Amino acid sequence: MGYFLNTTENYHINELNSLGWELTVCNALYPESSPCRDILQSKDPFGVQLYHYLSKYIHFDNVRSVLEVGGGLGYLMHDFLILNPALSGNMLDISPYLLGKQKETLSGLNVTFYEKDILKITADDLSWFDLVIMNENLGDLPTLVSGNDENTGTEKESTHWQERVKYFQEKYALSFFEGENINIGAMEVLDVLCHAEIKYIYLSEHSCESSIPEQLLPYLNLTSSNNPEKITLKGHDEYTIKFSHLQKIAETCNYEVKRGQFADFLPLNFNDKVKTALRMETPSTAEQEIIQHLVYDLYKYEYMVIAKI
Ligand SMILES: C[S@@+](CC[C@H](N)C(=O)[O-])C[C@H]1O[C@@H](n2cnc3c(N)ncnc32)[C@H](O)[C@@H]1O
Repeated sequence: MGYFLNTTENYHINELNSLGWELTVCNALYPESSPCRDILQSKDPFGVQLYHYLSKYIHFDNVRSVLEVGGGLGYLMHDFLILNPALSGNMLDISPYLLGKQKETLSGLNVTFYEKDILKITADDLSWFDLVIMNENLGDLPTLVSGNDENTGTEKESTHWQERVKYFQEKYALSFFEGENINIGAMEVLDVLCHAEIKYIYLSEHSCESSIPEQLLPYLNLTSSNNPEKITLKGHDEYTIKFSHLQKIAETCNYEVKRGQFADFLPLNFNDKVKTALRMETPSTAEQEIIQHLVYDLYKYEYMVIAKI
């Protein structure tokens, strides 16, 4: 069985000129008037809720320099710097368009910007950061997609990827089943972050291993294939993430891992309005559609907080 490499690099560098069509949870919760805030227990934006939650696992007194990779419109970093002005922010993004947006959102705050591809960064470049954040973007990184027919790479590329897969199998005792798609980009980045001995790492993305609590079973249809699933978006495809492999990489590198779902730090207000919206097979209002999407995302997204032991 061969692989082809799914990448989004060209799209992000040359084509992306809006994030509107790819509404992340972070962006959906940013506007004060967002209807998404009404269905959560707290009305705070994403970054504020995340910061408070991370404070349970991260000693922010020991954190000065924060790197956010792929920060989109910059809202998460904005919230972090307002809550903790002692932090020095760093934004690294492959997209010149989004880096420009981040400069607008973060103007006047203590932030440095880097237009770079995270896959081209070495452990030495990263070692001085105390905390690295990658929110809702691991799925953009290259994925080896299983299947013979679409194998578009050269033989040299194919050999290279086979060697990288072997590296992860041998170094981290990862096993991939026949037909499994491999989040090779996410694994490469985490490997580098662990080698850089970053004190704290936070990662999140749509997961191919998520599940829903008993209470929500009658309301939500969320199935997990345990195989990174294709998500087709404007101009590019991305893949859900197999977090168990990332967890194993981090733990092998002597990190402690706290893993969960967005609903842990964005708890749902499971009231009658939400229940009604979730029961509708076809939503009859825009608000019901928003509720269905957000609740799905609260459970489909997984995160990991990774702390050096
Ligand atoms: C779906 S957006 C997520 C934005 C933001 N983190 C959020 O939660 O709203 C993906 C982000 O990752 C960036 N990105 C994608 N591939 C990247 C790469 N190889 N290196 C650095 N940034 C990348 C994109 O430009 C964009 O800012």
